[in-house]
Amino acid sequence: DYTQDGPLAREIAQVIPYFPFKGIPRFYDVGGLLASPTHFQKVVDIMAARYGDLKIDAIGGFDARGFLFTPVALALNKPFFMLRKKGKMPNTIYGEQYTKEYAGSDCLGIPRGAVKPGDRVLLIDDLVATGGTLTAGVELVEAQGATVVECACMVELKFLEGAKKVQSKYPHANVWGF
Ligand code: PRP
Ligand code: MG
Repeated sequence: DYTQDGPLAREIAQVIPYFPFKGIPRFYDVGGLLASPTHFQKVVDIMAARYGDLKIDAIGGFDARGFLFTPVALALNKPFFMLRKKGKMPNTIYGEQYTKEYAGSDCLGIPRGAVKPGDRVLLIDDLVATGGTLTAGVELVEAQGATVVECACMVELKFLEGAKKVQSKYPHANVWGF
């Protein structure tokens, strides 16, 4: 939410005004999370606790900031795969072009064989804005015959209603954040 930060968002994400350009009054830099083992551990613990009892087969992280959350996969002892932007990874299945809040369009790929038909998948990213990135990820995973059971994001820019958009298109893929 650009106008009101929750206490945890204030603690963990540094807010940079007008980055990367003037139209973005509050940029949430979650990179700072890595500088504080206490906060980093807290985020991993919260996610690991939430997904401990949820039957999942694999966890996917979004290129690039979604990769910060690989410790969740270790905590849960689950395989992690990377949803990477075009041209970065061999043996990749690509999805459709998608648009994002301010950074134009992109195309995501999933490693061939990362998920199997019937798998229950958790997707993790740092932040949901328009929901373009999450939608592309859900589409790509589900095109392989797997099911996304939840999309976990640390920060939600509520006014853009991205979570709502993903949720209305994929009601089973719950969007969760804190
Ligand atoms: C940022 C952010 C999310 C995405 C959210 O990624 O990390 O992945 O935008 O925007 P959306 O909901 O409108 O799709 P970006 O690709 O800009 O940068 P990154 O490579 O640093 O993650
Ligand atoms: Mg990103």
